[in-house]
Amino acid sequence: MAMGLSLELVSLTLILTLTLILLPFTSANSEGDALYTLRRSLSDPDNVLQSWDPTLVNPCTWFHITCDQDNRVTRVDLGNSNLSGHLVSELGKLEHLQYLELYKNNIQGKIPVELGNLKSLISLDLYNNNISGIIPPALGKLKSLVFLRLNDNHLTGQIPRELVSISSLKVVDVSNNNLCGTIPTTGPFEHIPLNK
Ligand SMILES: *[C@@H]1O[C@H](CO)[C@@H](O)[C@H](O)[C@H]1NC(C)=O
Ligand SMILES: *[C@@H]1O[C@H](CO)[C@@H](O)[C@H](O)[C@H]1NC(C)=O
Repeated sequence: MAMGLSLELVSLTLILTLTLILLPFTSANSEGDALYTLRRSLSDPDNVLQSWDPTLVNPCTWFHITCDQDNRVTRVDLGNSNLSGHLVSELGKLEHLQYLELYKNNIQGKIPVELGNLKSLISLDLYNNNISGIIPPALGKLKSLVFLRLNDNHLTGQIPRELVSISSLKVVDVSNNNLCGTIPTTGPFEHIPLNK
């Protein structure tokens, strides 16, 4: 009886210890889950996303993904990869992401509003796709953004005035879309040569 009880205690302790050891990995994996959601939303005839295996502890060994030393995703490099399909709102969970490179594909649908949550983002390159809808005003929350290239898509509406408050912006290209209205001339736009 006493023997059985201590065995139970041992196994309980073991389970607790294992849970504590594995906890950091399960939380790190939420970035892998977000990227895997993107993979499922894309059509990938050239199999560039083949290494994106959601059962790995984190996405840091996947091709086209770069992480920092804490295993947080900092880059997604998928320019010129023959991808089609849609972007997903889950991308907004990659809070350490600095470079989102998806240019020269055939991605369609809208720019998810949640991309405005990427507070570390330096470069948002979605040019040369088939993206429609508006430029989300929420992108004005990207206070680290330097490069915003959305040219050669099917975007409509105005250039959101919220972008004027991004003081780090150096390069903006929204040319060859179906935008209307005027180009901002204040804030960072004062020094940015910009075509519409
Ligand atoms: C892109 O994918 C299509 C199939 O959807 C294929 O026919 C074409 O050869 C691919 N292009 C390149 C450059 O890999
Ligand atoms: C671009 O997207 C639209 C839907 O928004 C679709 O009807 C069209 O076929 C797409 N064009 C190409 C070249 O895939």
